[in-house]
Amino acid sequence: MFGATLTPIASAQERTARSRPRGPRPLPAPELPPHRELVRRGLAGHASRIRLAELVAAHGSPLLVLDTDRVTTQLLALRRELPGVHLHFALAALPHPAAIRAAHAFGAGFDVASRGEVTLLEREGVPLRHVVHTNPVRRVDDLTSAYLRGIRTFVVDAASEVAKFAGLPRDVAVLVRLAFPGSEAGASAGSGISVEDAPALVAHCRRVGLRVAGFAFHLGDRQVDPAVWERAIRGSLALVRSLERRHGTRFEMLDFGGGLPSAADRAALGAVTARIRAAIAAAPAHLRLVIAPGRFIAEPAMTLVARVVDRADRADGRWLALDGGPHGLGGALRHDADGPLVFAAEELGGQQVVDGAAERATRRLLTRDRVPTTLAGPVDDRREVIAPRRPLPPMEVGDLVVIPSVGAYALRPAIGFDGSAAAPVVVVPR
Ligand SMILES: Cc1ncc(COP(=O)(O)O)c(C=O)c1O
Repeated sequence: MFGATLTPIASAQERTARSRPRGPRPLPAPELPPHRELVRRGLAGHASRIRLAELVAAHGSPLLVLDTDRVTTQLLALRRELPGVHLHFALAALPHPAAIRAAHAFGAGFDVASRGEVTLLEREGVPLRHVVHTNPVRRVDDLTSAYLRGIRTFVVDAASEVAKFAGLPRDVAVLVRLAFPGSEAGASAGSGISVEDAPALVAHCRRVGLRVAGFAFHLGDRQVDPAVWERAIRGSLALVRSLERRHGTRFEMLDFGGGLPSAADRAALGAVTARIRAAIAAAPAHLRLVIAPGRFIAEPAMTLVARVVDRADRADGRWLALDGGPHGLGGALRHDADGPLVFAAEELGGQQVVDGAAERATRRLLTRDRVPTTLAGPVDDRREVIAPRRPLPPMEVGDLVVIPSVGAYALRPAIGFDGSAAAPVVVVPR
């Protein structure tokens, strides 16, 4: 058996030696553990670093743990992927003071969409002059308030929006928001006008004395199609070039909005950023290129810990009710049709001790029988399913469940029919 496999390998090497320069023999690609196991290992290290058990003992459950280091590492990763593109954090995804401080300390700018976000930035002492207000459907009093607090760049996509700027001083500028075919693939692509209609809106702004600083677009939630990104960037740049020629002017900014794939979807992220890099090679040097991700930064930065409060064994497996459900968490758990990855806290133990007793205990646990388990919220489990029929270690009332990557859009006000308040947020590192 051994001999039979050795012979063809040797002759393959001889063939390769003739056609390629000599060098170390490539090793076979290591077999990667499945995605859940990779996440479990990372999460186990994280849980021990942030002393998750102590946090729950001190603050109770359910608990959201916001790791500001993760905000920074996401921004760093993006800076590596997209050199030359300025990073703004779309604050709507995680409007929390600690996230603001981390992004600001990193040197990121901010895109905002609401009055509350402006207030948060103001409280944290972030200079508002370079913040972009991206909500093109706003009330005049919101606009005035944002202006008075220092914001100078807004987004418009219709003449009716332009009219709202009539009462403001001339030091305000707008980005015209563009829409591109295919961008509605995402859930929140929202508004914008076509590249064909944009010149008329730019001309209208100029007529009424409103300065157009450039263009913006937003391609929707988790836009994983590199072709959509490329079309949008190339289309915007062509528009910039043609209008700069026509008006003998220079635009200052192109804001790509958010909509990057989830951080967990590395293949999609790599494909999208590669295409962005290729498309921006043609950008004029005077144009400030901005990308304003929300989910990409926020999602991995927050982890939910909840406790099992009820257990029922049914025909379709074990049902566990947690003390925090989708209603109390303002939407953090509802972003995927197939639900989030969930872990029994027990699965995260022992990671620090390599080949020690705790490590052996973890390994035993991981190979132990698993029970098809449906996790649900605390009130009406059939309507509050968080994760259906997951193979999990057998859990009982009182056990902890850990759900990573719940940071995106989790802090919207929770209005549960059960009246439950949103889970408290604990910030790490302290
Ligand atoms: C204009 C704009 N920019 C940025 C974002 C952030 O998007 P994401 O969280 O998908 O990165 C949004 C979200 O809706 C948006 O509308």
